[in-house]
Amino acid sequence: MRILSGIQPSGILHVGNYFGMMRPSIELQDQGEAFYFIADYHSMTSLYDADQRREYTRQVAIDFLACGLDPKKAVLFKQSDVPEHVELSWILSTICPMGLLERCHSYKDKIAKGLDANHGLFAYPVLMAADILIYDADKVPVGRDQKQHVEVTRDLAMKFNRTYGETFKIPEPQFREGAETIPGLDGQKMSKSYNNTVEIFGEEKPTRKKLMSIVMDSRTREEPKPDAEENGAIQLIKHVAPPEVHREEIEKLAAGGYGYGDLKKRLFELYWEYFREARERRAELMDNLDYVDQVLAEGAEKARSIAGPVNERARKACGLA
Ligand code: TRP
Repeated sequence: MRILSGIQPSGILHVGNYFGMMRPSIELQDQGEAFYFIADYHSMTSLYDADQRREYTRQVAIDFLACGLDPKKAVLFKQSDVPEHVELSWILSTICPMGLLERCHSYKDKIAKGLDANHGLFAYPVLMAADILIYDADKVPVGRDQKQHVEVTRDLAMKFNRTYGETFKIPEPQFREGAETIPGLDGQKMSKSYNNTVEIFGEEKPTRKKLMSIVMDSRTREEPKPDAEENGAIQLIKHVAPPEVHREEIEKLAAGGYGYGDLKKRLFELYWEYFREARERRAELMDNLDYVDQVLAEGAEKARSIAGPVNERARKACGLA
């Protein structure tokens, strides 16, 4: 089974990225042949600072390695090191109906948030389809927000196969249950564009301060809080603590005499502990950037050894070769 996923280097990675995409992807490295890439071409649709792109790209690689991606098991690479993605993207765009892209929520959402309505942003799902199809991927672990993009990928693969003959494998999305519910500091979905994120590897003090700022209702310490399960801090605790600790915190809130300040302090402790090992590994990697660059270079080579022949297959099918 071949697994493929990508993540944009459009900022410092946060806990929503971690539980939504990184952790499920890292877990899958034991279950098949995994390819994970840093979608730097995609980041060009919304980030216009070259140094930031370079910096974030490297940071994403470091964070993945720190969080447990094993380059002996999974191939980690930078999308633009495999320019075949772009050729295939063009090929697919020539069979892609405008209506298919016009229906994509993600484009409309991004415009509504104030991003430039450029062609790259509109054509984003076609590039994403190329990313997936060029590896003959079976499974694509993504957050629910990417479901429609994987559907576009499947549509394009089927249409190409109908037009030019069997060429592409039809991939399946794979969602991690519960992953999409990571709440941000304000209770909305955690997302860079809502400015409500908690970084995975932030400094201790600012991270504590951020977690202490999670929005709560105005009930006093003494009041029992029987609806504790819906509390944003509790939902984060659910991800960073063992189930019995999660349950205990809910019970303490429900009983009364346990305030939101107490709860958030506990959240910080659990959070800090959860990422401790990864934080230590990350510090080592920061002193070893040559190693990180080498992982990416070797990853690119392996990725090209698959993407090159699949792209050639598509070129032949449509008469470019
Ligand atoms: N669009 C994805 C996101 O923003 C990133 C991405 C690009 C991707 N290409 C991909 C994910 C291919 C899975 C497969 O999260």
